Amino acid sequence: MKGLILSGGKGTRLYPLTYTCAKQLVPVANKPVLYRVIEAIKEAGISEIGIVVGDTAPEIREAVGDGSRWDVGISYIPQEAPLGLAHAVKISRDFLGDDRFVMFLGDNVIQGGISGLIRQFESSGANSQIVLTRVANPQQYGVAVLKNDQIVRLVEKPRDPPSDLALVGIYMFDHNVFEAVNAIRPSWRGELEITDAIQYLVDHSYRVNPYVHTGWWIDTGAPGDMLDANRLVLDEMEPKVEGYVDRGSKLIGKVTVQKGAEIIDSVIRGPVIIGEETRIVNSFVGPFTSIYHHVLVEKSEIEHSMVLEHSRLIDVPQRIENSLIGRNVEINRSPLLPKAYKMVLGDNSRVGLL
Ligand code: TTP
Repeated sequence: MKGLILSGGKGTRLYPLTYTCAKQLVPVANKPVLYRVIEAIKEAGISEIGIVVGDTAPEIREAVGDGSRWDVGISYIPQEAPLGLAHAVKISRDFLGDDRFVMFLGDNVIQGGISGLIRQFESSGANSQIVLTRVANPQQYGVAVLKNDQIVRLVEKPRDPPSDLALVGIYMFDHNVFEAVNAIRPSWRGELEITDAIQYLVDHSYRVNPYVHTGWWIDTGAPGDMLDANRLVLDEMEPKVEGYVDRGSKLIGKVTVQKGAEIIDSVIRGPVIIGEETRIVNSFVGPFTSIYHHVLVEKSEIEHSMVLEHSRLIDVPQRIENSLIGRNVEINRSPLLPKAYKMVLGDNSRVGLL
């Protein structure tokens, strides 16, 4: 079996972060989501992986390389524009050949990995297996209708949902999917939709099995989802302290301190991860927070947030919460008159003031 990871796309819902960073490389609990996807595929016993890349191809190549770090082979498949998930399958034909494969969206995180569902697909002999999960708000998802344990119909964002089983971003196919992606036409939004390709398989009597996933699953497409994924992954991490914690500091609960980090006169209440060479001085870092590498947090309080590399939070007068702070960001108190908020914010930035 082969793996196909979709890592193109525009990531518009994560602007301004994704102006400068591929969304699949945003570190959730201090590890890029794409690395987590590669690890899940590798753990399932698959070592030939294709990554579909778009505008952020150079950055993805730089971060992932030839895959030797994970002992997998990586092929890059350029997509000229984000023309849909089924389009990504179509252009991957040469890489996939006639092999069965798992397609995984490069911005999705799933609890418990994918070994179990790969095993089930391999032993079923089905042409396709689609991962589903029960959701409270099926109106916002692609939803599957089952009959006799087979998928018989897919409906995109139904106003009157026929089921609460939403499609998770993990799909398994055999080579018959190429017949489907070559036959379907672009949807109203101009994309070749994977739901149309799956419906084609169903309509042409191919066997499409459901796999109902019972753990959590997060599509990190929007800031709130990113923070949710960060919270869920942090909650499952085994704590490890490799950095320096001075005697004036207190670590409570599950706290990971990575190499070269320093915690000085601070209180850290887990689950939290503090990245390499990061300094936390005279500060409070509260639950569900990931501070990435080379960050400085001084005389400040932060919780339920993510901070990316080389950012500096100094003497911030109120606690920061529910925030996604990008790279090289500075938040500090300005001593210069006039007393005013002074900001340099990129396009699509969002600031919540008290
Ligand atoms: P989406 O989240 O649906 O699309 P997007 O990345 O363009 O995000 P936004 O809606 O915020 O602009 O994509 C899901 C995943 O699939 C993501 O990792 C990007 C990838 N993708 C491709 O590789 N090629 C494509 O043609 C599309 C539509 C998505």
